[in-house]
Amino acid sequence: MEIFRQEMRIAIARALGRAPADLPGEIEFPPRREMGDLSYSCFALSKEIKRPPQEIASSIAKSLSAPAFVESASAQGPYLNFTLRAADLASGTLPEIERQGDSCGRGSEGAGKTVVIDYSSPNISKHLAFHHIRSTMIGQSLCRLHRARGYRVAGVNHLGDWGTTFGKLMVAVKRLAPPGFLEGASLSGLNDMYVAFHKASEAEPSLEDEARRWFKLLEDGDAEARAMWTRFREISLADFNRVYGRLGVVFDAITGESFFNDRLDSAIKAAVDAGITEVSRGALVVPLGGGMPPAMLRKQDGATLYLTRDIAAALYRRLSYGFDRALYVTDAGQALHFRQLFEVLGKMGFEWASRMEHVPFGVLLMGGQKGKTREGNVVLLENVLDEAVRRTLDLIIEKNPGLEDREEVANAVGIGAVVFNDLKNKRVKDVNFRWEEVLNFEGDAGPYVQYAHVRAHGILRKSGGGDGKASDYSLLREKDEKDLVLLLARFDETVAKAARELEPSVIAQFLLETSAAFHRFHHNLRVIGGDADVSRARAGLVSCTGHVLKAGLGLLGMRAPEKM
Ligand code: ARG
Repeated sequence: MEIFRQEMRIAIARALGRAPADLPGEIEFPPRREMGDLSYSCFALSKEIKRPPQEIASSIAKSLSAPAFVESASAQGPYLNFTLRAADLASGTLPEIERQGDSCGRGSEGAGKTVVIDYSSPNISKHLAFHHIRSTMIGQSLCRLHRARGYRVAGVNHLGDWGTTFGKLMVAVKRLAPPGFLEGASLSGLNDMYVAFHKASEAEPSLEDEARRWFKLLEDGDAEARAMWTRFREISLADFNRVYGRLGVVFDAITGESFFNDRLDSAIKAAVDAGITEVSRGALVVPLGGGMPPAMLRKQDGATLYLTRDIAAALYRRLSYGFDRALYVTDAGQALHFRQLFEVLGKMGFEWASRMEHVPFGVLLMGGQKGKTREGNVVLLENVLDEAVRRTLDLIIEKNPGLEDREEVANAVGIGAVVFNDLKNKRVKDVNFRWEEVLNFEGDAGPYVQYAHVRAHGILRKSGGGDGKASDYSLLREKDEKDLVLLLARFDETVAKAARELEPSVIAQFLLETSAAFHRFHHNLRVIGGDADVSRARAGLVSCTGHVLKAGLGLLGMRAPEKM
């Protein structure tokens, strides 16, 4: 696509008697399809030469000597719109996709740059709840998108593994659990201990003080407290890793809040040395502007806070990764926390604070409720995955009982459907989870895209992989062919855009559109059994579509089965 753009830039510049480099603005995809395939907006030029953009557009249109691949060029208001010849478009773009295969969509604008992505970051000793899928899958997709564009990526899990709640759990284990409990305990067992603690502390409020004492012991490095906490962490991670494994999520580092314990004093000292702190009623705070409440670094009783750990973590990350950009993927509810964090780091004199960003997302609703069952219990992530797989398996048994590896396919499709549902709309929007929408094979859902990929493979299997001759893509001139080619040609910059805007939904929407265009193509035109040369070119188009769909699904963290 880049080559087409360059040539058009040259032609437009020539019509204006300028050098291509002096032409302001870009050759872009028009907002509406009926405007043409590419367009040039004359607004920037209008500002520069102080003539109305409409007038500029029509004068360029008159004097333009368009390159041969342009079928028509016309002024429409302030825009100059171009329609490309289908044959040139196809032969100019498909060979490249064919060459890249499943690794299409990669780019190099991130080469030499590092981005740290903090995502998932659940609190330990509780199950991953369904809502954790949001940060987890948005974050992992952002990692994949950045890697695809050449960035060095560090995906970090900032586990919530420190805090007074672990004191409670210790009291419960010591007082209420059978001896040896922690050796064989599961995460559910730990959850039961929480419940047991809360019940017991109602009758015996002094247990709360005891819990605080145990947490203090942990902070002071007491061996028994430390051993129990270590088990809490191990038990939790074993459970988390099983779920992460099912979701295909891998972290580059799991450095939880506890990791920063012995880095807190130096972080606080750096803030004090910068002269930005103040003691307010015994607590150490940083007064902030912008109507923000002051940031507290240390409480009156000496305890540090979530924010203190994030300051230490930022210093550590900057030192160990030298990042160009640092992202924090959490729900929108933490916006103030991150504004405070970035502001404090900025005041400490770190210019890189301006390159840190909170990547917020909306809430996950189930039947209008915030990830809760009708009875008010939290919905567990793994239960949703299990149900998705079970429902998918039922569908497979009903529709395609002979399918081999059906368990495997049910996993790829069921879990993929839940993931796609989470990523398909702009991340700041709330997600309303409805099974009928999640597992839709007809459109707007993950299975629809995976099914398009399956169909592409089915066609290629039937067409027998061709006769080995190279495709002549200039034979692809039908409207349905061109529509599909145009989408495939846009994949590369779609991936760049998704990474730039931190929006996996850009990929998801692109995949839905491409699947729809592919279904139309396949419905209206025959790939097999027509003219041999046309068949070969069409099979090539099908194969390119398969590559793009598979690469796109991969960027969302979804698998692309070849049968389903
Ligand atoms: N553990 C936190 C929570 O569950 C999220 C941590 C996000 N990352 C960070 N560096 N603060 O809400």
